[in-house]
This record gives sequence, C-alpha cells and structure tokens, in this order.
Amino acid sequence: MTRFISVIGYPLKHSVSPDFQQAALDYYKLDIRYEAQEVKTSDLLSAIYRLRQPQNLGANITVPYKEETLHLIDEVDDFASMVGAVNTIVNRDGKLVGFNTDAYGFLRALRDDARFKPENKRVLVLGAGGAARAVCFALLQEGVGSLIIANRTMEKAISLASSLAEHAVNNKISTEIAAVPRQKSKLTEAIENCQLIVNCTSLGMKSSPHEEKSPLESNLITKGALVYDLVYNPIETPLLRIAREAGANTIGGLPMLVYQGAASFELWTDREAPLDIMLPAARQALIKIGG
Ligand code: ATR
Repeated sequence: MTRFISVIGYPLKHSVSPDFQQAALDYYKLDIRYEAQEVKTSDLLSAIYRLRQPQNLGANITVPYKEETLHLIDEVDDFASMVGAVNTIVNRDGKLVGFNTDAYGFLRALRDDARFKPENKRVLVLGAGGAARAVCFALLQEGVGSLIIANRTMEKAISLASSLAEHAVNNKISTEIAAVPRQKSKLTEAIENCQLIVNCTSLGMKSSPHEEKSPLESNLITKGALVYDLVYNPIETPLLRIAREAGANTIGGLPMLVYQGAASFELWTDREAPLDIMLPAARQALIKIGG
C-alpha cells in the first residue's frame, strides 16, 4: 500500500518541502508520497481528521495553522505543548501525536551553519507568531542572556514574553526577558549591543504582499551582529541584503527548513534523514521556483 505524508498550510504554492522530503523518501526507496495540501481555514478540521486514516503516516503543518492545530490532535509532546505550536504530526495507529521540530532546526542551523553560540548572548526576536514562539523557547533553553521580543501587535509580544518568563522562573533560568513595540525609538534602544537578531515575521517573503519589505532599517543593524532570517525564499531577503551591506553576518532560513524537515522525516520513518540528499534538493527546488 502506498502511504502518504502531507504538508498542510495556506498558501502553499512556493513550498519546497515536497521536493526535499520526496528526495529523501526516494533515497530509501520507500513507497511513500509526500504531497502539498493547500487547505483553507474552513477545511482544516476535516484535513486533520483524515490524517487518522491508515494510509497516512502524518503531516507537516505550516503557516498559518501551527497554533490552531495543537487543539485538533490527540496528544502533544511536551516541548510542542510548551511552545504552543505544532509543525509535525505522526499518525500512530489512528492517534495523532504532535511535535515541534522548528526549534531543533533553528538551533542546529545557528550552531552548525552560522557557528554562533547562543549562551549569555543578547538577542532581539522580531515577531511573536508560531515560529517566533519556537525560536524564543529554544533560545531560552540555550541560556541566552537577554531576550527582547518586538512585534507589530504588542499584546502578542507581551503574551509570549509572559509565557517565557513563567518558564524561566519555573526552571531557574536567569535570562532577562522583555517585550518592546516596533517603534523606531524603542527598537533603537533594544537593538543596542544585540549579538543576534532573528526575523520571525513574514516580511520579505517572496510572493507575499510584503516581499520588498525589511523588518528593520539598515541604520539599526550593528556591524558584527548575526542577522538570522527565517524566511528562506528568496535566499537573500531584503533584511539579509541590508544586513550584509551594514557589515553584519547573515544566515537565511533554508538550513533551518531542511533541519526541521529532517527531524520530522525521522519521526515518520524511523530512519536517519539523508541530509546530503535533502539540502541540495531544497536548494534546487528553490532555484526552480525563482528563489
Ligand atoms: P508563523 O507560524 O510563521 O510564525 P504567524 O503565526 O502568522 O506565522 O506569525 C507571523 C508573524 O509575522 C507575526 O509576528 C506577525 O505580526 P502580528 O502578530 O502583528 O500579526 C508578523 N507580520 C506579518 N505581517 C506583518 C507586517 N506586514 N508587518 C509586521 N509584522 C508582520
């Protein structure tokens, strides 16, 4: 019987997950198809429900459903539950179990590709959605010195900062945590001496209404800082371009995308993810769609 794994999100036109996941499945000659399922909000419940059928091994969940999905499945692993967002579902005999592999992907790319050690560093995170939540909890667990969250909707930044602060107190983590509005004067203050700036907003994403936009102006970016953009299409986003021009170090979202996908692959198949197949397949797919 052919089995299926899907990526569920909306819109999904430019997803490269089907390309690099299928390449990994084919490498092991598995009779499994990885397919994109563009699902409207009104159809999310039935799409998740169908994952319980025996031919379905599970799914990746992407924008904008990572938070909502948490409430539609049967069991959530501890880390995903703490983050409040699920990006991977495994169908265990009709029971849907949710995981979050974004944090793992984010940290692996930070350490292995950008060669950045987060311990005791001062970090600014832009955004407060599902991706930002995974990134912030990952950074907190790595023991960053300060974590500042800036978001267009201030209440979401405050709510994320409160969850992080509660986790820090309960686990005796001494990270300083703050939420700031995205006004220039506040950002200028917050960004001072930051060694890492992470963009978790969708600004700069190709084919979005904000594809030309950077979440930060160039005069705010400090030379020598690391600017990490979770957006992977295009490979050089407007933020990464101005960061490079300002003398900052940069890393884009493609390695994180592949590492989070590799962790999901291992959950579905119990086999080691062939990264040397997945990374080039993702890069090629991105070139094909004009990234
Ligand atoms: P994801 O799962 O990728 O995090 P999300 O939960 O929809 O997706 O979060 C998107 C993030 O991008 C949010 O922080 C959002 O800000 P709001 O919380 O104010 O909505 C941010 N974002 C999206 N469009 C934006 C824009 N035009 N300007 C500034 N921030 C934007």
